[in-house]
Amino acid sequence: MKKIFTMTLLLLLCTTISVCNAQQLPKIAILATGGTIAGSTDAGGTATTGYTAGVLTIDTLIKAVPEITKIAKISGEQICNIDSSNMTDEIWLKLAKRINTLLKSVDGIVITHGTDTMEETAYFLNLVIKSDKPVVLVGAMRPATAISADGPKNLYNAVALAGSKSAKGKGVMIAMDDTILGARDGVKTNTLQTSTFKALNSGPLGIIIDGKPFFYSSASRPHTINSEFDVSNLNTLPKVDILYTYSNDGSKVAAEAFLKAGAKGLVVAGSGAGSIHENQKNYLLDTAKNKQAVIVRSSRVGSGYVPDAKDGILNADNLNPQKARVLLMLALTKTSDPKQIQDMFNKY
Ligand code: SIN
Repeated sequence: MKKIFTMTLLLLLCTTISVCNAQQLPKIAILATGGTIAGSTDAGGTATTGYTAGVLTIDTLIKAVPEITKIAKISGEQICNIDSSNMTDEIWLKLAKRINTLLKSVDGIVITHGTDTMEETAYFLNLVIKSDKPVVLVGAMRPATAISADGPKNLYNAVALAGSKSAKGKGVMIAMDDTILGARDGVKTNTLQTSTFKALNSGPLGIIIDGKPFFYSSASRPHTINSEFDVSNLNTLPKVDILYTYSNDGSKVAAEAFLKAGAKGLVVAGSGAGSIHENQKNYLLDTAKNKQAVIVRSSRVGSGYVPDAKDGILNADNLNPQKARVLLMLALTKTSDPKQIQDMFNKY
C-alpha cells in the first residue's frame, strides 16, 4: 500500500514537473515564406541544384525537426511559399504587420526564407519591427531532399535563438551555419556553399552551439524599437530601382526608363568607392538637381565605405546596393529632402 502511494506521488510529481516545463518553454511562431529550406527535387539526394524552392509547407518543416518542440511551444503560419528571388513589397508589408501583431503574444519569431534575398528582408524588418523580442530569419543552401541538408539544423538553431533571453534587443538576426548575423550587415557571399552568410563590414554577432547562442558583439546602428520607420498604415512602398555601372557604360537608358516607370529613388552600384561612368553620372546629377528623384551612391565591390562626393548624389555609407535600396524606400515614406535622407543613411 505504502509502495503504491509512493509511486502515485512520484508519478504526480513527474507530471507536474513536465507540465511546468512545457509552460516555461518560450512561445515561438514560425512564419514560412518558402526558399530552399522548403525546396525539393526528384533528382535524388546528391542533387543540390536544379530543385524547386518553396514546395514544402510549414507543417512539413516543423514535423521534420521534432526536436524544436522540446525547446519551444511552436506555432506555424504560411505567409507565402516562393523562391525568394520573387520577393515583393506586398509580402514584406504583410510579414512586418503580422510579426508586429504576433509579438504582442509570443516570445520570439522565426521566419523561414530563401537565402537569395534574405539579407534584404532582414534589413527591412530590422527597420520596421516595433519590439525588442528576437526575430530570426533562417534558410538553407541545400534542399530538404539532399543528403546532409542544412535546413533542419539551421531551423533548430533559429528556434533556439528566437527563444533565448540573451537574443532580446539584438535586432533582427540571420541564423545560418551555426552563425548569428545582424540584419544590417549580414550578406550572402557565395552562390552555393552552406557558409555563404558573412558580415563583411563588421563580423558576426555570435555563434550557436548545440542550441545555445553565444554573443560576442551587438548591432551598432539603431533598429526595431529605436527606428523611426513605421509601415503599419502603408499598403505600398515608394518605387526605388538599382542601376549598375561598368566599363563603357555611357548610357542613361536604364536610368531614364526607371524614372519613366515611376521610380522615386535610384541606387547606383558604383565601381570602387562609388564611382559612376561620367555619361551616366551627368544624367544622374541633373536628375538629383531637378529633384526628379533621390539618387544614392553605393558600390558593387561588396564591402566598404562609400565617401560623400558632395555633388548632390547621396552616399550609402557601407550598405550594399540592395540594402541601400531598402533604406531609401523607407526614407522616402517620410521625406524626399536629400539632406534628411543623407542623415538617415549616416544613422541606420
Ligand atoms: C531562394 O532564395 O528562395 C532560393 C535559394 C535559397 O533559398 O537558397
